[in-house]
Amino acid sequence: MHDLISYHHLRGMGIDVSLDVESIRADFPILKRKLPNGKQLVYFDNAATSQKPQCVIDSMSEYYSVYNSNAHRANHTLADEATTALEGARKSISTYFGTSPDQMVYTSGATEAINLVSYAWARENLSTDDVIVLTEMEHHADIVPWQQLSKEKGVEVRYVPIDIDSFTLDMDAFEVAVEGASLVCVVHTSNVLGIRNPIERIVELAHSQGARVLLDCAQSAPHERIRFDDSGVDFVAISAHKMGGPTGIGCLLIKKEVMGQMGPFMTGGSMIKTVSTDGSTFQEGHALFETGTPRIAEAIGWGAAVEWLEQFDMKDVHSHINRIASWTAEKISEIEGITVYGDSSRNDSSGAVSFLHNSIQSQDLAFLLDEGGFAVRTGHHCAQPLMDALGVPSTNRASFWLYNTMEEAEAFVTHLSDVVDRFSDK
Ligand SMILES: Cc1ncc(COP(=O)(O)O)c(C=O)c1O
Repeated sequence: MHDLISYHHLRGMGIDVSLDVESIRADFPILKRKLPNGKQLVYFDNAATSQKPQCVIDSMSEYYSVYNSNAHRANHTLADEATTALEGARKSISTYFGTSPDQMVYTSGATEAINLVSYAWARENLSTDDVIVLTEMEHHADIVPWQQLSKEKGVEVRYVPIDIDSFTLDMDAFEVAVEGASLVCVVHTSNVLGIRNPIERIVELAHSQGARVLLDCAQSAPHERIRFDDSGVDFVAISAHKMGGPTGIGCLLIKKEVMGQMGPFMTGGSMIKTVSTDGSTFQEGHALFETGTPRIAEAIGWGAAVEWLEQFDMKDVHSHINRIASWTAEKISEIEGITVYGDSSRNDSSGAVSFLHNSIQSQDLAFLLDEGGFAVRTGHHCAQPLMDALGVPSTNRASFWLYNTMEEAEAFVTHLSDVVDRFSDK
């Protein structure tokens, strides 16, 4: 275990302490892993999914080995324990995100959370005259549901472009696009550029038009503390697996006043009050949207992850990651033939560094990096409209989390330089 008492003690005394990364790393068994070629794993694919601390793995294993049972159904001891753990996790997670348990719906991840808004809110409230504003830097999870809705309901979808020089959202264009809008769907932090959008201004402009705001926090939640009730945002979508939790779970946070405007999403068991051959009546609040057997083990694992994260000041986490990301971006941009997409020198960026070499294909480069033990993501990152705006088919992306070190970044830059020296067209 890391020395949390002294970490908090020092912070409490107003002393600036950076993260005790070596102790943090000790909580992640996978980080000790060597690849089949004998190379030490350096995991730089955190924007795709983070690794899990031992306490998350243990909490899920304990559920399956000690009190595995369905929740919200039977009255026996195991069922009680499973229900208490599921709802206890909801309390921990919603508190972590600055809201109450009844405003949080468990989903399979950010993708399902966004689909939930499109089915349960937008299909109930929007029609031909309505406008949805998206940005060019959205993940496909925040584009395709709205395109489908547009086909079905005739809703207009507007895309706000990025400023190609600064890699930021064109806020002048946003101000024009938001006029007359009913819903603004925007990514908090881009999974490709690492840029954090000015959400406070976006909410202000959207609300001045009477538009609701859906914020995709899949990438920001691992890097900063989301305080839902204070944010003014109407919906927040989050994935657990990018912030130390398991795959298969996430949530949608919903403003109280908006919940009442929503209809059912998936139907079946759990979300009903009564069912007869004449029809059914439904639950209210978050229960309306949680259908079938819940994701019990996953919720318990996510609860353990947020309790683990509670130990840190996310500002320290952010500055640690940002320091590694900006150093890496700067160094690799000096390597001949490499272009970095995004501006990691901004201190609000999230730790995703996307880059491309002008003659080594991104897939080949990823393979050569993997040979050195470095796990990075390659491809369009589920953001093809953004790739189109950048004028590239794909990028390589190194993304960092709190357990990564400057030593790993230095080794990465050295290896990348060597690879480029060996393989680029001279
Ligand atoms: C910005 C963003 N939004 C949404 C998603 C979708 O998350 P999930 O696949 O966990 O549902 C991702 C995943 O990469 C993402 O980066």
